[in-house]
Amino acid sequence: MRLVDLIRKKRDGGELSGAEIEFIVRGYTAGELPDYQISAWLMAVLLKGMSRAETATLTQAMLHSGEVLDWREFPRKKVDKHSTGGVGDKTSLILTPIVAAGGLLVPMISGRGLGHTGGTLDKLESIPGFNVNLSSDEMRRVMAECGACMIGQTASICPADKKMYALRDVTGTVESPALICASIMGKKMAEGIDALVLDVKTGSGAFMKQEADAIHLAELMVETGERMGKRVIALITDMDQPLGRAVGNALEVIECMEVLQGRGPDDLTDLSLELAAWMFYLGERTASVEEGRKLARELVANGSALKNFQQMTALQGGNARALTDFGLLPTARNRMEVASASSGYVTQIDCEKIGVASLLLGGGHNTKEDSINPAVGVTVHKKTGDRVKRGEALCTLHYDDDRQLTEAKSLIGSGYKVDATAPPLRRLLVRKVIGKV
Ligand code: URA
Repeated sequence: MRLVDLIRKKRDGGELSGAEIEFIVRGYTAGELPDYQISAWLMAVLLKGMSRAETATLTQAMLHSGEVLDWREFPRKKVDKHSTGGVGDKTSLILTPIVAAGGLLVPMISGRGLGHTGGTLDKLESIPGFNVNLSSDEMRRVMAECGACMIGQTASICPADKKMYALRDVTGTVESPALICASIMGKKMAEGIDALVLDVKTGSGAFMKQEADAIHLAELMVETGERMGKRVIALITDMDQPLGRAVGNALEVIECMEVLQGRGPDDLTDLSLELAAWMFYLGERTASVEEGRKLARELVANGSALKNFQQMTALQGGNARALTDFGLLPTARNRMEVASASSGYVTQIDCEKIGVASLLLGGGHNTKEDSINPAVGVTVHKKTGDRVKRGEALCTLHYDDDRQLTEAKSLIGSGYKVDATAPPLRRLLVRKVIGKV
């Protein structure tokens, strides 16, 4: 088989066979196929698309390019959640301890922030000492004690994706639904889970700005997961404004701990409990999603979920005291309010601008090598539908140095639309459920 023939075949709109796709993934992982040919093939896939069968084969090939975790010695269902990313999207730190405290196993492998969106690993690392770089054996020990473990991708899990994602990032080929599906589902299936809940975000702070694109990707991922014998559903959720009020790593950890103590913002609490409820249902812990909601609420109210997160933090080397004594978390030296230029109602927020403002203050990665400042970020005081007076704070910026402060401030100012009349009632946080319910 010659790669040039497969590039031509895809370029001309042909469908690749399973053997051809496996040849590409295996050859590239082994270092036998050059970046320039794989780049050409990726671009052909982006432009011509892939059939459902091709996408499923590519996902399988990604999954089997490395280690697949095996939890046979744990006689409980393993479940996980994946979000396509957003601003202030921090539900993993809330639902993981809820679901583990409820008796299921959560072997979560997460990523870092991408573009204007935050990443679970960056948030966890803002807890002093928290180690996300565990081997599979260390992960196993943590799981045995508390039922959950949150780590980053290891060298042995989905190596094909690690190489191919880096190439896609620099060749303009990230935005292919088939490639995104294979990348995400390959990694998630390598966790050895029985069920997966996908949180596919849409709106101004999401990668998928259009709901139709989010639905298309969700359907593709659900179908691919089902073909692999897993229980998978996707929730299409709103990302037209930040989730909760905190954007920035340590600020977000604080907000998560507030939710686990029953005093977090409603939107973040509701979505976290909803995702946890679906995990309970798909993991056969409850007979219905409604029972899952009830169980999730109970585990927060009786303190079990917070206790579970404290235990996991300690097992992963973190300072669990910092989860209730927030003075032990990194704190920015300075704060500045961004005031509203007019009075009225907030009718629209360009959510991506809030994410970029936090990134400019040092809260995210501009390049893969960038280190981040865990203390900085944005507190959002006004959300869509809120009344605001001229001069009142829309947001507070938390910063250490003021190099990009002016830019961050003007981004937030231009990201808010304030009008004299109130906007129509907000659309539901969960817009649609995709998959066999
Ligand atoms: N996240 C991933 O892990 N892969 C993609 O392709 C896009 C987002």
